[in-house]
Order: sequence, then C-alpha cells, then structure tokens
Amino acid sequence: MKLAVISDIHGNIEALNEVLGDVDRRNVDQIVSLGDNIGYGPEPEAVIETLCDRGIPSILGNHELAVKEPAYLEWFNPLARKSHIKTRECLSPQALDYCRGLPPTRIVQGCLCVHGCPPDSTITYIFELSRAQLARIFDRMDERICFVGHTHRLEIIAYDGGEAKWRDPVDTAVQLDPDCQHIINAGSVGQPRDGDNRAKYVIWDTETYTLTVRRVPYDIKVTADRIIELGWPEFYARRLW
Ligand SMILES: [Fe+2]
Repeated sequence: MKLAVISDIHGNIEALNEVLGDVDRRNVDQIVSLGDNIGYGPEPEAVIETLCDRGIPSILGNHELAVKEPAYLEWFNPLARKSHIKTRECLSPQALDYCRGLPPTRIVQGCLCVHGCPPDSTITYIFELSRAQLARIFDRMDERICFVGHTHRLEIIAYDGGEAKWRDPVDTAVQLDPDCQHIINAGSVGQPRDGDNRAKYVIWDTETYTLTVRRVPYDIKVTADRIIELGWPEFYARRLW
C-alpha cells in the first residue's frame, strides 16, 4: 500500500498539478494533505477544488485555522496577515466552509496525520521542542508513524524508546526501522523553505517500510507572476525562488 503525503500547498496550483501528475505515475493507492492548502499563493480556490474533485482528504492547517478562528490571525506577522486577508476575500463561501470543516487530525493507513505536532497541535512547530519533550510526545503516541507539515522542511525523527534522533531524508527510498516510532515531515508542495525550490512530497510504502522523498520541478514563474499581478505581498512571490 503506497500513501502519498502532501502538505503546505499554499494556493500554488502550478506546484500541486505537477505533484499530482508525479503521484499518478507512481502507482500510489491513496493521497492525504496535511493542511495549509491556502495562504500566500494566488490560487487557493483552485487548490481546494482540485483536492475535493480528486477526493483527497485533508486536515486543518494554521492557515485554515485562521479562517475558522479569526482571532488566531493576531499570531500572524503583518505580511502574512495581509496575504491571509487577500486569500479570504477571494474564496467562495463553499471554500471557506471547507476550511472551517477540516479536522485537526486523521488516521490514514494507521498513520497519525497532524499539521504541526502530535498528538493534535495545528500550530506547534516540531523545531520548538527539545529532545526530552519529543521523547515524551513519542511515549504518548499510539501510532508508529506520524506525518506533520508546518515547517516546510523535510525531516525524519526516529524514536527507539530512548532518544529522539534526526535522520536526513534522501532522494531515493529511505528504509525506516520498524522497531522505532517516527515523525516524518513531508515538506511543502507550494512554498519550500529548505533551499531547494522544487515542490516536495513523500510516498510511504506500508509493506516495505520505505519512505520515498519526491522533489518535483514546476513553473515557479507562473505562480510568482500571478502573486504580483494580484497585488498580493511580493515577498511570497520572491520566496518561491
Ligand atoms: Fe504552511
């Protein structure tokens, strides 16, 4: 069983379409999105439509949380807030309802899916946590595997009951230790922040216990130009490069 995990699409339909094309060529059985489908990028409505049309389940990201609970917007920096307001203004009532209706977690193929941090935080960044805090989180986690997004950086953290250890994802398949629990950050489809401007996602093979990291090129200029054309904060166009 192959599960494709996509996250942080951020209104980037060019990146999403290329990623879904890549998924379709790789015999994947199921796809899940870890939230932040909207925000920063110029095509949030098209992204939500695509997820709904393809029946791809999602969870709540912090950008959807800001739609559901506008008070949370106070935590955004001024530029992100401006971008969020533009995003919200262009979404249809149906798309806004979709954002408000997303659950904070899902279990997919036995894996916990949460935007920020297990067990159920949409807003906590994994990098804020010490090794000791991570160990406590693993101890309380029932699942062997948890997928997160939020930081826009690929990451694999393994826990053997003693210490949480980081390992670098590589381009080819990574064999994970079935005796360990893992938190896997799927990176970002629509706004990578790891110095590689290609869209990222991962494929989890439940039978071979391997994780494949996919790095997919897309037409960045189309998305960047559209952000500028709309008069949305230019910073988020430049950041794509
Ligand atoms: Fe995000």
